[in-house]
Amino acid sequence: MRVLLGSDHGGLRLKQEIKDLLDEMKIPYDDVGCDCDTSVDYPDYARPVAEKVARGEVDLGILICGTGIGMSIAANKVKGIRCAVVSDEFSARMSREHNNANILALGERVVGPDLARSIVRVWLTSEFQGDRHARRVQKIHDLEGCQIS
Ligand code: RB5
Repeated sequence: MRVLLGSDHGGLRLKQEIKDLLDEMKIPYDDVGCDCDTSVDYPDYARPVAEKVARGEVDLGILICGTGIGMSIAANKVKGIRCAVVSDEFSARMSREHNNANILALGERVVGPDLARSIVRVWLTSEFQGDRHARRVQKIHDLEGCQIS
């Protein structure tokens, strides 16, 4: 499994915590940035992560900003992305088992480092259950490009 990370300035410290966890779990990862405290725009980091996940160049993505919300909204604009913003372990598991989420969004200003570690650990070790959930996920993707009349 290969994971791609991205954050804005609001998620920088939590991203380092998640890198430490991935090192402990011996899961390889890359980081698209940002890498300093300067204020940046989260879509600039959501986009490369979402595109590489959607192309299958990496297996899963983790995006971190202040709330996780901006990152998730941006990532979900990319076709093929199912990004879940999560702040508890149960939702982390469900987002993989039922929704086959391929990107996890976290908010550094929402979850503390220990909870974030638990969320990531659960998210990376849960598996999609398929079956009726596969039909529902397909219906999500059928909405892509949906025109407003
Ligand atoms: C940056 O101040 C903040 O807006 C961003 O990190 C994120 O929370 C947006 O959703």
